Order: sequence, then C-alpha cells, then structure tokens
Amino acid sequence: WAVMEEDARIILELKKSRNAVILAHNYQTPEIFHGVADIVGDSLALAREAQHTDADVILLAGVHFMAETAKLMNPDKVVLIPDAAAGCSLAESITSEDVALLRQKYPDRPVVAYVNTSAAVKAMSDVCCTSGNAKVVVESLGVPEVIMLPDEFLAQNVAAQTDVKIIAWKGHCEVHERFTPDDILSLRQQHPGVVVLAHPECPPEVVAVSDFSGSTAVMANYVKDLKPARVALITECSMSDNVAQSNPGTEFVRPCNLCPHMKRITLSNIRKALEEMQTSVEIPAELFAPARRSVERMLAVK
Ligand code: 13P
Ligand code: SF4
Repeated sequence: WAVMEEDARIILELKKSRNAVILAHNYQTPEIFHGVADIVGDSLALAREAQHTDADVILLAGVHFMAETAKLMNPDKVVLIPDAAAGCSLAESITSEDVALLRQKYPDRPVVAYVNTSAAVKAMSDVCCTSGNAKVVVESLGVPEVIMLPDEFLAQNVAAQTDVKIIAWKGHCEVHERFTPDDILSLRQQHPGVVVLAHPECPPEVVAVSDFSGSTAVMANYVKDLKPARVALITECSMSDNVAQSNPGTEFVRPCNLCPHMKRITLSNIRKALEEMQTSVEIPAELFAPARRSVERMLAVK
C-alpha cells in the first residue's frame, strides 16, 4: 500500500508538471479509477472527452485502441499508454485485409466498426460505434443492411433491437463470451431479487436472461439512478469495485471475469509513463485521415 500511495502521489505531481490528464476506462482498478484519473467513463465518453481537453499530454489508462482513438482526436498532443501491449481480443480478431474482403463480398453495404478495432480497420470503415450508441449509429445510415464488425454478439444484440439487417464478423470479447445463461440462472437462485445488468458484448442468450443491457457507463448510471438493493454487473471485475465505491447502499453480487489487457495498466507503469513520456502512440500517416473520419462521423451522430 505504501508503494501504491507513493506512486499515486508522484503521479499527481507529474500530471501538474507535464500538464497531463489521465483518461481511465471503467475497467481500470479503483486505485487508478478513483485515485489518479481525471476523466473516467465508457469507450464513447473517453472518445468524446479526448476531443475537449486542453492538456498537452493525455495518458490513456485503458487498452491500445482507446489510446489510438484519443490520438486520432488529438494529432498535436502527446498520447501515452503505460503498456503498449494492452490489446483487446476484439481488435485482434480482424485486419484491414479482412474488411477489404467483406467489402468485396457485400458491395454497397456500409461498414460500421466497433471502436474496439485498430486504426487500420477504422480507416477501412465508414463509421465507428461503441456499445453505447451502436443501434443509433446503425440506424443513422438510413440503409436496410450494414456490415458491423468485429463483435458477433454485439451485432446480434443490436440486430434484435432494429429492423436494419446486420452482417456480422466472428470476433468475441474474451471477457464477456465466457458468461453463460446458466451463470445467470444460478445467480438468481442464490441471490433472490438480484437485478442483472449484462454488457452487450455478452452472448445474446445471456442478455436474454438478464434484466437490462448497456455499455459500462449505462450500467453505472442504472445503479446510480435506480439504486437497486442488489445488483450483478455481468462484465469485467473492476466495474463492480468502482461502481460499488460510489453506491454504498447497493449490494454487489460479483460473478465477473478479468480482462488481462486492462489489468496490464498499473499505478506503477502510469508513473513510469509520465516520468519517461513513454509509450507515445503514433498512427501511420496514411491511416490518420480515414480513421479519424470514421470516429468523427460517429461523434456527429446524436
Ligand atoms: P464500453 O465501456 O464502451 O461499454 O466498452 C466495454 C469494453 O469492453 C471496452 O473494452
Ligand atoms: Fe477487449 Fe473485452 Fe478486454 Fe474490453 S474487456 S478490452 S472488449 S478483451
């Protein structure tokens, strides 16, 4: 604990001396989320907030695609990620060559890319989406059929809520794909009255037996606003830890899975990143404009 307190103290000093802000995803551990972050949220909030900061340095406490998105919105700022190997099973499930082949196979269908993709895949897409705005983005295109990649389950969960037909890819989040309907049913037996909130990266069968589904920010707001007595957040483990700290009146039942990529970020490597100004995220010049356009189009959809 003493080491963590010392790291946090130095991080707060470095933020001032470097004019840096820390953007942290909801899956970061509480000592990062509550201790040193300036802005916290879901992928959509982090992409939006990255547009509005006047800091010189943005440190992204999250995974690589989130840092790339922040860089796309801030070409002239230094964007740091404390561990460049913090990846994502969804982002790794598809390449720009795969997108080119999909476009050949399904000409004229717009490509909606989840933000959990590389800049190269975003550059080959028409518009991005997150779990918080996927339905709205898909419907904003005004066409009967779209390609939505790479998360098969998110695509199926969105398809269940819209008349737009969705051609999906077979990518999965390694954290959310592991939940099963049986997990939820036994949870309900063991904890009567529990309200079950599932992330839309979960399989549709899991969402079907849950009470509500939404992005991490939507889940956090549900707990804050509706104050359920007992809740289970069917998602990454730190989410419950963080939301529980702000909602002491709610009991959190915790079947959860850890994201090994998110957990690569620690107070110690945040401190090191700010001390050494490493690793700075760069986007290849030829990808920059088309990838940024896909993110901007998403942010322009209300
Ligand atoms: P959201 O925070 O946008 O819901 O995304 C969840 C996720 O898995 C990000 O890695
Ligand atoms: Fe990727 Fe899933 Fe980890 Fe999010 S939780 S970073 S989607 S592997």
